[in-house]
Amino acid sequence: MAHPPSDRERTREEAEPSVRKTDDGEAESRIVVLDFGSQYTQLIARRIRELGVFSEIVSPESPASELARAHVRGLVLSGGPSSVAQEGAPLPDPAIFTLGVPVLGICYGLQAMAQLLGGEVERAKSGEYGRAILEWQEASPLSAELPNHSTVWNSHGDRVSRLPEGFRVLARTQEEPHAAIADPKRRLYGLQFHPEVTHTDLGKEILANFLFRVCHAPATWKLSSFLERSCAEIRAQVGSEQVILGLSGGVDSSVTAALLHRAIGDRLHCLFVDNGLLRQGEAETVRHLFGEEMGFALHVIDAAPRFLAKLRGVADPERKRKIIGREFIQVFEEAAQKLGPVRYLAQGTLYPDCIESAAAGHGRPAVIKSHHNVGGLPKRMKMRLVEPLRLLFKDEVRELGALLDLPREILYRHPFPGPGLAVRCLAPITPENLALLRSADAIVIEEIRRAGLYEEVWQAFAVLLPARSVGVMGDARTYELTAAVRAVQSVDGMTADWARLPSEVLSRISNRIIQEVRGINRVVYDISSKPPATIEWE
Ligand code: XMP
Repeated sequence: MAHPPSDRERTREEAEPSVRKTDDGEAESRIVVLDFGSQYTQLIARRIRELGVFSEIVSPESPASELARAHVRGLVLSGGPSSVAQEGAPLPDPAIFTLGVPVLGICYGLQAMAQLLGGEVERAKSGEYGRAILEWQEASPLSAELPNHSTVWNSHGDRVSRLPEGFRVLARTQEEPHAAIADPKRRLYGLQFHPEVTHTDLGKEILANFLFRVCHAPATWKLSSFLERSCAEIRAQVGSEQVILGLSGGVDSSVTAALLHRAIGDRLHCLFVDNGLLRQGEAETVRHLFGEEMGFALHVIDAAPRFLAKLRGVADPERKRKIIGREFIQVFEEAAQKLGPVRYLAQGTLYPDCIESAAAGHGRPAVIKSHHNVGGLPKRMKMRLVEPLRLLFKDEVRELGALLDLPREILYRHPFPGPGLAVRCLAPITPENLALLRSADAIVIEEIRRAGLYEEVWQAFAVLLPARSVGVMGDARTYELTAAVRAVQSVDGMTADWARLPSEVLSRISNRIIQEVRGINRVVYDISSKPPATIEWE
């Protein structure tokens, strides 16, 4: 029922559990979102989970017979970039409308439903983009307890010009007479606007009405029950075996570690590889928090000399990534062998990684930078994967981490690239330059934290540039390196805007770096957005 499995997924011991059980052994009811390619599809699934109902995203062409087997309480057809008139536009299996399961079509999903059921879709004269005022025309479960008028957000070029038989109008906007439609007898609903985005004022309430008044879904999705069930599943999967995990100190691997530790205690071995490319104090923090405070079986591997030797004289970003990726696998493999035969490898794969790697087979955008992950490990080491977070979104992972007593500093820390400071050191990668970069970076983070802005920005860091320039320090002339400061705002790292940090904060960062870091005499602020720039400099 899900997208075709990627190579990574095929290495899993078990397929995704298609039927999860609630605490009292009932099959967990779910809402399934058919993904027609909208940038908001994940948002739909997240909103539904926020309302306490488990939701999953599947391929738009999933056969109705499979959906029928999966305890589906309701279906949502997402929006998408296609036009139903286009040849090859994705359409759902028409049999989904005869399953007796409620369906909510959103934007393109509504148009696809209307067309398949005998209505007509046309290119709108001018399209409808941005905000509009929705006016309900007729009482329905979808609008129960909602005011008659509210703001909604639109983004569509096509529109339903003739309703299929059995359908009627529930709501209109000034531009669009068919803003919400329904065939209440068959429990088929359609919205031309996007209830999942925050610009739609009562969008979450409309979705809640669909879940609870149309689908009658019980709100049983709670992370505390997920935690208990997941521990039981992990124990069942690994039996009395040992498991290893590459702990990076990032959110995903930390939460995976805490969950596995809760499930199997010291049979989880966390390997932390110090590759010499870590931020200031990172290895000590990990050792202290996970080793001492939380009492995990933590193995710190000091591999800095190996990595730095391999990186000597290497300037090309992709070569750096490849070298680091290969070296990591070797170091990890050697350390794992020392532990004796271990059959299970845990990874902090999240739901969006699964959806994206599966969708990659459908011609999604090509990789711009080859991101380093440990995807090659399980195949090479013939290990079985344990991926307990594979059904969770990032915000759910953070919430789970809090239930597992991980501190906020870990759960809300900025992302840090696998190749570490290597892709932030454009000057030659030497221990001296890395020390400069570490000191500058620590100042950036310290000042941003002090200003209370750390959690307001997606990422902030320093980059060491190979450019030397002239300066004066006291009476002496200096000729030293340049640090660039990067701070960006983003929702998912796919697009980003440079953060408008207050000038006093920038000024403190600059003064401190130049005064405290001997070897850097100039600081610049990066004001490029992504695209066309990327967040990292390499
Ligand atoms: P870019 O630089 O592509 O980064 O705009 C987007 C997000 O991905 C992180 N990033 C990486 N993460 N390995 C990683 O694990 C990598 O090679 C890598 N390159 C970039 C980056 O920090 C940002 O959050």
